[in-house]
Amino acid sequence: MHDMTDRYAVTGNPVAHSKSPQIHAEFARQTGQDMVYERLLAPLDAFDATVEQFRTAAGKGLNVTVPFKEAAFRYAHRRTPRAEAAGAVNTLKFENGEILGDNTDGAGLVRDLTANLKQALAGKRILLMGAGGAARGVIAPLLAQQPAALVLANRTLAKARQLAELFGGTLTASSYEALAGQRFDLVINATAASLSGELPPLPPGLYADGALAYDMMYGRGHTPFLRAALADGAARVADGLGMLVEQAAESFALWRGVRPDSAPVLAELRRLVEAG
Ligand code: ATR
Repeated sequence: MHDMTDRYAVTGNPVAHSKSPQIHAEFARQTGQDMVYERLLAPLDAFDATVEQFRTAAGKGLNVTVPFKEAAFRYAHRRTPRAEAAGAVNTLKFENGEILGDNTDGAGLVRDLTANLKQALAGKRILLMGAGGAARGVIAPLLAQQPAALVLANRTLAKARQLAELFGGTLTASSYEALAGQRFDLVINATAASLSGELPPLPPGLYADGALAYDMMYGRGHTPFLRAALADGAARVADGLGMLVEQAAESFALWRGVRPDSAPVLAELRRLVEAG
């Protein structure tokens, strides 16, 4: 067989709006890696068949996005401990006929918080809102930073309680109402509320001095949650664009064995997002 450029892609449904091809093309250019990175639209009922075709056509790896992260978890032969903890896979690596499943979302969030935003996590009180896949994916990496407390608040309390049982340690479940009177150094929105133009029902006055409010969503200007957080006394706000770039950098490092420089890529992406 002759030499071929290594192929990667992001798969999801929809996938047309994904920024991953742009991010990985820039990482590849920067590090001099010979690779291409495409978009792969998978029909909702044909994730496995679509991925299998890509893999047998010399594909080396995939990023996996909505709604296939659980399907990718099942599809993998072998999973990293952080993928097992997340119960979902956002990165697949194909090597020697084996399918490795990883999850870089939590590491991407922690890196954005600690390296880009200089937010200390050890000994801090963290509130994580939401108990779906987005929240679950970041719990273990956050706990590994040894916060004083990680409180998981969810509208449906039973779902938060299930996760608290699963992870144990300093993770505790809470309703939104029961948060009243508490203070947090970091409040992370991992709910899907903004998709329907809503806000999680957070009681007022939760932000400690110097607190950071972080929204996993991103867009032009501040998200509704970040606007509300500033109005309620958060000292700093950040959206999820940095997490997007950092999870991509983690995937790139897993595939290629080199770590790209995320800062210029994040700056350029920010410019494009703000330009609309
Ligand atoms: P994802 O994979 O993005 O996490 P998901 O599994 O559907 O998506 O989870 C969505 C999360 O957003 C849940 O925690 C959901 O709360 P419930 O478990 O109570 O449904 C939360 N969510 C969605 N809309 C919300 C809203 N308007 N206010 C508060 N939480 C909301």
